[in-house]
Amino acid sequence: MRLLGLVVAALAALPEVVECAGGRVHHAKDGSVIGTTAPRPTLKPKPLTTGKQFIKSERRKRTCFVDALGNGRDDAPQILAALHKCNGNGTVALLSPLYTIATPLDLTFLNGIDIDIQGTLKFTPDTDFWQANSFKYTFQNSSSFWQIGGTDVNIFGSGKGTIDGSGQAWYDLYAQDPLILRPILIAYKDLHGATISGLKLRYSPQWYQIVIDSSNIIFDGIDIFGGSISKNPAKNTDGWDTYRSDNIVIQNSHIDNGDDCVSFKPNSTNMVVQGLFCNGSHGISVGSLGQYYKVYDLVEDVYVYNITMINASDMARIKVWPGIQSALSVDLQGGGGIGLVNNITYDNMQISNVDYGIELTQCYGQKNLTLCNEYPSTLEIKNVVFKNMWGTASKKYDPTVGTLVCSSPAVCHNIVAKNINVVPPSGKAPKYTCTNMDRTLLELPCA
Ligand SMILES: *[C@@H]1O[C@H](CO)[C@@H](O)[C@H](O)[C@H]1NC(C)=O
Ligand SMILES: *[C@@H]1O[C@H](CO)[C@@H](O)[C@H](O)[C@H]1NC(C)=O
Ligand SMILES: *[C@@H]1O[C@H](CO)[C@@H](O)[C@H](O)[C@H]1NC(C)=O
Ligand SMILES: *[C@@H]1O[C@H](CO)[C@@H](O)[C@H](O)[C@H]1NC(C)=O
Ligand SMILES: *[C@@H]1O[C@H](CO)[C@@H](O)[C@H](O)[C@H]1NC(C)=O
Ligand SMILES: *[C@@H]1O[C@H](CO)[C@@H](O)[C@H](O)[C@H]1NC(C)=O
Ligand SMILES: *[C@@H]1O[C@H](CO)[C@@H](O)[C@H](O)[C@H]1NC(C)=O
Ligand SMILES: *[C@@H]1O[C@H](CO)[C@@H](O)[C@H](O)[C@H]1NC(C)=O
Repeated sequence: MRLLGLVVAALAALPEVVECAGGRVHHAKDGSVIGTTAPRPTLKPKPLTTGKQFIKSERRKRTCFVDALGNGRDDAPQILAALHKCNGNGTVALLSPLYTIATPLDLTFLNGIDIDIQGTLKFTPDTDFWQANSFKYTFQNSSSFWQIGGTDVNIFGSGKGTIDGSGQAWYDLYAQDPLILRPILIAYKDLHGATISGLKLRYSPQWYQIVIDSSNIIFDGIDIFGGSISKNPAKNTDGWDTYRSDNIVIQNSHIDNGDDCVSFKPNSTNMVVQGLFCNGSHGISVGSLGQYYKVYDLVEDVYVYNITMINASDMARIKVWPGIQSALSVDLQGGGGIGLVNNITYDNMQISNVDYGIELTQCYGQKNLTLCNEYPSTLEIKNVVFKNMWGTASKKYDPTVGTLVCSSPAVCHNIVAKNINVVPPSGKAPKYTCTNMDRTLLELPCA
């Protein structure tokens, strides 16, 4: 009852204006200016596209402003109320400098709405509360602070809006117990037709974003940065993970993180990733796949284009679990899954200080290669092209600059590499590990 009262009070307090496409000045009760609404950016996949449709939203007709309560009070209830009120052709404007989010937000009801974020949304570092109350997903035991879904949704940060996960408390707790449930900073769940742009994402407890059961989304101008200030590293901070999703474009973004820059998890189709600068990551990855015994995973029709990758373990990466149960770490185990990786292109990539320009493995999570060969992967990889890559690897495996290892020739077909000009820092002739591959298709110096 108390919560309902709060929601009603918040609804009553929301001012409403008619016709607004940016440029409306919003005042506080004392007359001072809080901010001005931003125009919704017009976004298109560029230069490449998936060939499928994205949304064209109508002009929004109403604006709901949410002013932060301040002093660490939870702004989640009044944000929820505003989203309900302006859902259906409206805009919710978050113009205050700092909003505190202390309770989970299930925003999977959105339908025809713009969200103009110019301040910071900061999640509280209450690790006990969030572990008990976050949204839970069975895939890889993941969870999130909030979930955004629905149709025809534009969320824009205009280069200012920030989402802060207060990650430090989580990095330190994870170092003590790797089985804690670290929330993903943003989960897009059942979201169909959306643009997400101009946001700064900071200090995620683990992955920055997951896209689940979603379609037709453009991400543009996302700036990711985080890290730990203690001795405990910020681990598993993937930029994006796509899962059971179709027709997603990720472009023009800067990612400074410590795990996959982008990762296509099971059932990711029609993906374009272009114009990214990734620093410190594990590359643009297909997978890991085949983690769940006898489950069919598909990753198909993916184009990765124009990527700058620095200080990373990999640039182009395909990782598949072997046909036998394996443990990568105490909180990540799997193997024995089935499925297909088909029609994947990596094109136009510049690297610097990257361990492997190309890494393809069907032995993910298993150190014993003999065992991998005894139980080859039951997930086929075919029609993959790596082309136009240049730059310098790291000294880690010098002079080896790439590795392509299939667990059996029967499960890898038509894997092509051409115009790859990666050199090791020593200046020696570069080498590649190539196992169970059709070498006639690899224009690489296989050792
Ligand atoms: C939103 O606008 C469209 C087109 O103008 C209209 O059909 C629809 O009913 C509106 N939705 C709401 C909830 O007002
Ligand atoms: C590559 O991406 C960068 C942004 O990272 C952009 O400035 C540049 O124009 C893009 N080049 C091509 C050929 O698309
Ligand atoms: C790459 O990341 C490291 C570590 O966070 C940082 O020190 C460095 O400035 C970053 N470089 C670029 C070019 O972003
Ligand atoms: C992926 O899609 C296939 C159908 O194409 C389905 O059989 C399979 O269960 C899906 N896998 C996951 C992980 O959802
Ligand atoms: C391969 O994927 C690309 C998108 O990356 C798509 O344009 C093309 O049609 C696909 N090829 C086939 C044979 O389906
Ligand atoms: C999920 O967590 C449980 C324990 O909390 C663990 O036993 C299991 O292996 C985890 N699953 C995956 C896929 O990591
Ligand atoms: C990141 O890469 C740049 C360019 O290769 C290099 O100058 C810098 O030292 C690297 N930073 C780290 C933290 O490795
Ligand atoms: C690797 O696997 C093989 C085959 O099962 C086994 O004989 C061998 O002992 C294993 N090696 C190690 C180091 O565990």
